Amino acid sequence: MRRLTLLVPLLFFVQCKKQTTPPTGLVAKKAMVVSARGEASKIGVGIMQKGGNVFDAMVATEMALAVAYPFAGNLGGGGFMVYRKADGEVGALDYREKAPLSAHADMYLDSLGNVIPNMSTVGATAVGVPGTVAGIMEVHQKFGSLPLKTILEPVIALAKKGVVVTEKQAKRIENYQEEFIEVNGDSTKFAQGFKAGDTIKYPKLAQTLTKIMNEGRNGFYKGEVAQQLASFIQENGGFITEEDLAKYEAKWRYPVKFKYKDLKVISMSPPSSGGVTMNQIFKMMEPYDVRSFGHNSAQTVQLFTEAARRAYADRNYFLGDPDFVDIPLDVILTDSYLKERMVNFSFDKATLSSDVSHGEVEIVESMETTHYSIVDAQGNAISATTTLNGAYGSKLYHAELGFFLNNEMDDFSAKPGVPNMFGLIGAEANSIAPEKRMLSSMTPTIVEKDGKLWMVVGTPGGSTIITAVAQTILNVYEFDLSMQDAVNAPRFHHQWLPDMVVFEPDGFSDDLKSNLKEKGYIINENRTPIIGKVDAIKVLPDGRLEGGADKRGDDTALGF
Ligand code: GLY
Repeated sequence: MRRLTLLVPLLFFVQCKKQTTPPTGLVAKKAMVVSARGEASKIGVGIMQKGGNVFDAMVATEMALAVAYPFAGNLGGGGFMVYRKADGEVGALDYREKAPLSAHADMYLDSLGNVIPNMSTVGATAVGVPGTVAGIMEVHQKFGSLPLKTILEPVIALAKKGVVVTEKQAKRIENYQEEFIEVNGDSTKFAQGFKAGDTIKYPKLAQTLTKIMNEGRNGFYKGEVAQQLASFIQENGGFITEEDLAKYEAKWRYPVKFKYKDLKVISMSPPSSGGVTMNQIFKMMEPYDVRSFGHNSAQTVQLFTEAARRAYADRNYFLGDPDFVDIPLDVILTDSYLKERMVNFSFDKATLSSDVSHGEVEIVESMETTHYSIVDAQGNAISATTTLNGAYGSKLYHAELGFFLNNEMDDFSAKPGVPNMFGLIGAEANSIAPEKRMLSSMTPTIVEKDGKLWMVVGTPGGSTIITAVAQTILNVYEFDLSMQDAVNAPRFHHQWLPDMVVFEPDGFSDDLKSNLKEKGYIINENRTPIIGKVDAIKVLPDGRLEGGADKRGDDTALGF
């Protein structure tokens, strides 16, 4: 009898866990693209309807975002892509920007050794060697199935026809208008106030894209475009030469892979910190019955925060470009190391970040970068995050080529111990060197469950990317939210320094915050920014796909 009374609740629990959550996002039978703009999702889906695979759709979507979403979509930036083919093969592509050949550790310091304000964030001095075009050409060459012409023609047509400005886009352009003028002069394209409903045409960008379509990567990294780009950057005081452009190569990497309960997470490896940091967070949380704590409950927020605090402290100290630094992954990802890191964690009291390491900084968060997720009709998946770093990158706009240039050099630590624009403090591992890639937080991720494709996920959000991706996975896996609800759910963030929990504006009660404050958590009540814009796809138990397109932006899921 006693055994039966124990068994009944257990069976009930198992049944509950097996219950499938009804989808609340767009559902498609075969294939889907979720991206920051409907125009880009439509072009990506169109390529798959023409028989293209997920990689063809990636090339189309990435380039369409460069047209429709100049805030972060780009030719002048870089990114990362993680893939999983239907047969289970996984891999990752690093098309992150690089420091130019003339770069050196002290390039952003004055004669007294102080960081020169704005030099790594605004204008030509901030620009790293762009990697996006090399990245998509590498993908197309290795895995593409349709001719480049078929893939890029709809993108070029969009650039010529123009893109309608949304309410959110009009506000963004207005917010940065002064900086556009400061960097480019008052006749620059984006100096004119665009209103919602206006159409912006990109004829120059269409010309550059046509060159890339006809000549491949050489149409960007060599010849006329490369000459125009290098001389423009140098005329504006920057460092990139034709040699830097010609030498740029994207690089295939092994993704970070780890198990969390019965999930297998596949995410971006260094020079992204995303996969490693998320691996540490999940492994520090794994021993706990997170599901029983409840979604966004005080215990869940505490456990997540304490794991993130410790993981970000390691991130900032150990991680950098693996081609330049030895990262002790064989130590910092082991169960024994991570168990030791959590030894001083208690639900009774916050750990102070000063007890984990030291420093006091102000957080400056922004919503740059963009992510898209794609699954094709064969079950191949890609997760790609691409960036100019800040909103519209360095704000430097090449009018003749039709695109903005990144300010990715700020992702290096210009001076170890001094925070970058995300408030992240770096160490020697992420110091500047010629041809080195700067550390990133971008976390394009694919998750398997029971050996099958289960989720494709990622987000923009600077240093908050890693926590937003991790919370989205937990929302579906531990708390049974649908893909769309998991994306909609309010998020919180902690990154070791500054030692504070940041909450989104809605969805966290005063009671919850008081409870946390009593335990010693420092809560930033003045800053309640939106955290990330997650674009994700979940494979439902019957094989259909549910999209999660973030309502925080103009993000759109489309499929067939
Ligand atoms: N530029 C933002 C990142 O790479 O994390």
